[in-house]
Amino acid sequence: MSSRVSWWVFWVMSVVVILNVEFNIVEGGAYEETKVHIVYLGEKEHNDPELVTASHLSMLESLLGSKKDASESIVHSYRHGFSGFAAHLTDAQAKKISEHPNVVQVTPNTYYELQTTRTFDYLGLSHSTPKGLLRDAKMGEDIIIGVLDSGVWPESESFNDKGLGPIPQRWKGMCVDGEDFDSKKHCNRKLIGARYYMESLFRKNKTDSRIPDTEYMSAREALPHGTHVASTAGGSFVSNVSVNGFGVGTIRGGAPGARIAVYKVCWQRVDGSCASAEIIKAMDDAIADGVDLITISIGRPNPTLTELDLYNQISYGAFHAVANGIPVLSAGGNYGPDDYSVQNIAPWIITVAATSLDRWYSTPLTLGNNMTLMARSAYKGKEIQAELMFVYSANEMTSAAKGKVVLAFPTESELTDYVSNLSNVQAEGLIFATKREDDLKVSEGIAMITVDYEQGSTMFKYIRTTSSPTIKISSAVTLNGPLVATKVAEFSGRGPNPVSPYVLKPDIAAPGVGIVAASTPEKMGAEEGFYAESGTSMATPVVAGLVALLRAVHPDWSPAALKSALVTTASKTDPYGEPIFSEGLTRKLADPFDFGGGLVSPNKAADPGLVFDAGAEDYRLFLCASNYDEMHITKISRTNTLYRCPSPRPSMLDLNLPSITIPFLKEDVTLTRTVTNVGPVDSVYKLIVEPPLGVKISVTPNTLLFNSNVKKISFKVTVSTTHKSNSIYYFGSLTWTDGSHNVTIPLSVRTQMLMYFSY
Ligand SMILES: *[C@@H]1O[C@H](CO)[C@@H](O)[C@H](O)[C@H]1NC(C)=O
Ligand SMILES: *[C@@H]1O[C@H](CO)[C@@H](O)[C@H](O)[C@H]1NC(C)=O
Ligand SMILES: *[C@@H]1O[C@H](CO)[C@@H](O)[C@H](O)[C@H]1NC(C)=O
Ligand SMILES: *[C@@H]1O[C@H](CO)[C@@H](O)[C@H](O)[C@H]1NC(C)=O
Ligand SMILES: *[C@@H]1O[C@H](CO)[C@@H](O)[C@H](O)[C@H]1NC(C)=O
Repeated sequence: MSSRVSWWVFWVMSVVVILNVEFNIVEGGAYEETKVHIVYLGEKEHNDPELVTASHLSMLESLLGSKKDASESIVHSYRHGFSGFAAHLTDAQAKKISEHPNVVQVTPNTYYELQTTRTFDYLGLSHSTPKGLLRDAKMGEDIIIGVLDSGVWPESESFNDKGLGPIPQRWKGMCVDGEDFDSKKHCNRKLIGARYYMESLFRKNKTDSRIPDTEYMSAREALPHGTHVASTAGGSFVSNVSVNGFGVGTIRGGAPGARIAVYKVCWQRVDGSCASAEIIKAMDDAIADGVDLITISIGRPNPTLTELDLYNQISYGAFHAVANGIPVLSAGGNYGPDDYSVQNIAPWIITVAATSLDRWYSTPLTLGNNMTLMARSAYKGKEIQAELMFVYSANEMTSAAKGKVVLAFPTESELTDYVSNLSNVQAEGLIFATKREDDLKVSEGIAMITVDYEQGSTMFKYIRTTSSPTIKISSAVTLNGPLVATKVAEFSGRGPNPVSPYVLKPDIAAPGVGIVAASTPEKMGAEEGFYAESGTSMATPVVAGLVALLRAVHPDWSPAALKSALVTTASKTDPYGEPIFSEGLTRKLADPFDFGGGLVSPNKAADPGLVFDAGAEDYRLFLCASNYDEMHITKISRTNTLYRCPSPRPSMLDLNLPSITIPFLKEDVTLTRTVTNVGPVDSVYKLIVEPPLGVKISVTPNTLLFNSNVKKISFKVTVSTTHKSNSIYYFGSLTWTDGSHNVTIPLSVRTQMLMYFSY
C-alpha cells in the first residue's frame, strides 16, 4: 500500500475530540461552564488602540468584579478596524453584557471549516490569464494580499521573491517568530507577513495537550491548505512543475508579483478548524497592517440561520474591512448542490463559486465485453488485467477478493473500511461508484478509482450478466479542450441567498476543481511540492489574485466597484463558447444561483465600461431596508448620534448591486440602479434586455449619455409578471452596451401570488 493511502487513513483516525470549554468556580463551589463569547461593539470610539483595549477591560471588570478576572477572561481585543472583544464568559454573564448599551451583539465563538474537498485529482492549471492585465498591473507587485487560512509552508518555491522590489512602504504588518518559523529566514519580499492566532482554541504554549503534536506554534502550516491558497492567489512563477508524474509545466498565482501576508487562523482540530474569535482578530489586524484585500476560504457545515445572518461575526469583520476600502473574498462553501446552500452571503463580500477546468485526467476502464468507460479519477501505474467482482460492504472484501478488482458503492463513512481492507486482502484495485463529485479520489500505485453512479450501474449490470467478468485498467490519459465541458462543481454552494434573498449569491465563479498549487512536503501526493486540490477554497484565491491585479490598475476603485467589474463582464459560456453546466442531482445549464454573473473573465474585468458602485452607507441603508434596528446600525456608523433610517425604510431592491433579484413578485415593482462610467468619457450606452420567462422589464432611460460632466447615471427598472400563480425563479439579463463594452447584470425573478411581502 502506498504512503498516500496510509496517510489518509491516519488523517481520519488521528481525530480527537477537543472541547473548547473551561470551568469557572462560582459561588457555592459549583462549576459553571464558561465559553468564549464575542462581544461586538461596532465602530471604535477611540483612535488609540490602547484606549480601545482599556475600555474593553473596564467593561469586563465591571461585569466580573475585578481587574484580575477581567484580564484572565479576555481572549482578544479587537481595536483597529472595529471595536469588540472575545472573552471567557458564562451564559449568564454573556446575557448580562449583551444588555450593556454599547454592545451591538454577543455571540458564542463559532467554528468554521476550510473549503477543500479532499479530492486528489491530477489536473493542470490553465495559463489563460492575459498578458495585458498582468503587465499593466506589474503582476500585482504593489499589492498586498491578506490570506486568512491554516498558515504557510514558507520554503515553498512559490514564495521565492526573485525580481521583486522592496516591500511597499505602507506595510505595517509583521512576520512573527515561532516554532520552526524564523522571520529572518522565512519571510522575504514575497511572504511579507506571517502571524498566528490561537487564543480561543489553545493556550499559546506547546504544553497544552489539546495541541496535536504535528501542529506548529507558529504561522507554519500543519493542516495543509493555506500554502495552496496563498500560492494560488499570489505565488511566484515556478517552472517545470509536475504532480504525480503528470507534467504541469510552469505554475504561478493569479498575481505572481503580489506580496503575501499570512494570518494563520485555522488549526488541526476536529470540531471546527477555525474559530471566529481568531478570524475576526486577524481581520482587525489585517486592516491595520495595510493589506489591499483579504481572502478567506471558510464555511460552516450545517449553519443555523443566526450563524448565516447578514451581520454574523465574519460578515461584520468583513464589513469593517470593506468600509476601509479593503475587498473581502470568501468561498461560497462546499455544501452544494442544494438550493440555499451558499455561504458568506453578505452583500459587501465577494462570494466565489467553483467550476471545473477544461482539462481532465481520466482512467480508461475496459470491461470484458470491450466497453470502455472513462473513470472520474486518474490512475498512474501499470496496466491491470483482472477479474471484476462486486461487493456490498467492506466485510465482503475477504480473501475471495485477492488478485481481483472490486467494485463497490460505499457511503462516505465506509470509505476507510474499504481502503484499509484493500491491502489486507491484496485486491488488485478498488472502484468506487459515487453520486457526488466531491467524494474521495485517491490513486497512486494501487488502483483506487472513482466512477460516477451511472458508470457504476453499468459495470454492476455487466457483472450480473456475465459468467466471468473481467476488467482492464489502463494508465490515465489526459482529456483536453472543448471535449471536457465546464461545469459548476456539484459541491459549490448554490443560491438563492438563504437569509437575504434580494442579494444574489454567489457573485462569481472561477476554476476550483483540480487546481495545482504549492503544498507542504508531507501533503499526500505532493512529493514534488505541488498538488491538485478542489473546492470553493481553491476558486476563491483564483479570484483574489485577479482582484489584486485589478487593484493595481484601478487603485481608486471601491470593493463594490471591483465586484461589479467581475460580475458584469463574467462569461456565461466556457472559453470555447460552449454552455456552462451545473453539476448536481439533475443536470442543467448553470444559472445565476450556480455561478452569479458567470465565469470570471480577467481581461474584460479590467475594462468593464460601467460599474455599479456602493459604499458603507449604502450597506447601512440596506440594513435599514432589512429591518435592522437603528441602534444596531448606529454602532456601525461613524457617528455618536442615533442613526436614523429614512422613513419609510428604503427598499431592499434598491441596493446598488450588479444584479437584480426579486424573490416575491406580485404587483409591478420599480427599482433603481446607478452606473458610474469608468470607460471613455463620452460614451453612449444602449439597452439590451433578455427578460426572464413571463416577466416584463421596462427601463428608463433606455439610453445613457456620459460626458465630462456626467459620470454617474441612475436608471429605473420596472418589473411585472404575467404569471397567474407562483412560479419558480426565472432568469434573464440586462445589458448596457456601447459597442465595445457589454455591462451585463443577471436578473432572477420569482412570482409569488400567494404571499404578501412588503418592500
Ligand atoms: C508552558 O506551560 C508550562 C506548564 O504549564 C510552563 O512550565 C511553561 O513555563 C510555559 N511556557 C511558556 C512559554 O509560557
Ligand atoms: C523537469 O523535471 C524533470 C523531472 O521532474 C527533469 O528530468 C527535467 O530535467 C526538468 N527540466 C528542467 C528544464 O528543469
Ligand atoms: C474485444 O475485442 C477484441 C480485440 O479487438 C476481440 O478479439 C474480442 O473478440 C472482443 N470481445 C468481445 C466480447 O467483443
Ligand atoms: C475487512 O474484512 C474482514 C473480513 O475478512 C472483516 O471482518 C473486517 O471487518 C473488514 N475490515 C473493515 C475495516 O471493515
Ligand atoms: C455584446 O453582446 C452582444 C450580444 O450578446 C454580442 O453580439 C457582442 O459581440 C458583445 N460585445 C462585446 C464587446 O462583447
